[in-house]
Amino acid sequence: MGSVKKAAELIKNSSNVVAFTGAGISVESGIPTFRGENGLWAKFDPSFLELSFFYSNPEKSWRLIKDIFYEYFGKANPNEAHSFLAKLEEKGKLIGVITQNIDNLHQEAGSKNVIEYHGNSKYLVCTKCGARYDFTEERIKDIPPLCDKCKGVLKPDFIFFGEGIPYEAITGTEALLEKGDLLIVIGTTGEVYPAGLIPIEAKNKGMQVIEINPQPSKVTPYADVFIQMKATEAAKALEKELEL
Ligand code: APR
Repeated sequence: MGSVKKAAELIKNSSNVVAFTGAGISVESGIPTFRGENGLWAKFDPSFLELSFFYSNPEKSWRLIKDIFYEYFGKANPNEAHSFLAKLEEKGKLIGVITQNIDNLHQEAGSKNVIEYHGNSKYLVCTKCGARYDFTEERIKDIPPLCDKCKGVLKPDFIFFGEGIPYEAITGTEALLEKGDLLIVIGTTGEVYPAGLIPIEAKNKGMQVIEINPQPSKVTPYADVFIQMKATEAAKALEKELEL
């Protein structure tokens, strides 16, 4: 319990908390992680999410995207960890969430300032003319989905390997790290760059770091407090400690 009490003290003494989340925060909402024994990359070859593979094999890539991502979305609901961050924002403690996830669960939990570092699965973008469409099941009935305007192949609006991070995600993240005094990292191996640099940058800017993860990760060496728990357990314990 020591780590929860220590983390609660840090949160109480901070006024500009920033959260940084990965797939682990959505595990208890039913969405699998990428790495680890039941991870998606143990079952599927991530090369289908290479941008070059997508452009040369849109149908094959889309078949996997549809089976793997879209079959979970829509059914998954935010959990207590997503709600905990939304509550901290509502209380004026948390100034934003930087997420690597594309499941939209932070927004569905009520978080307002969410930086989608790897984009979002709720939109499709035309690879030819740039037209954007809301994602609907109907739109991906036939794959690859094509643009109504120019018949170009539509791509999910999340970042593929080899694709640049959205400009607004980079500037939004910088702004939060400029203002933030405490970073709460939940559910990431910290193995993918440049997202993995965020906790290091936070430390370099003098922010304190709390990590919540049932396993140590690449972030753990930078953590002032490491809560070795599942996201929802830690969230419930912190809410109790903070009397939220
Ligand atoms: N609560 C909190 N953390 C958990 C839980 C849980 N219940 N279960 C697992 N975890 C942790 C794992 O210990 C691991 O550290 O979640 C982390 C999941 O790691 P990854 O699967 O690597 O997910 P992530 O770090 O978000 O991956 C980063 O890699 O494949 C790309 O673009 C993809 O955004 C993704 C990026």
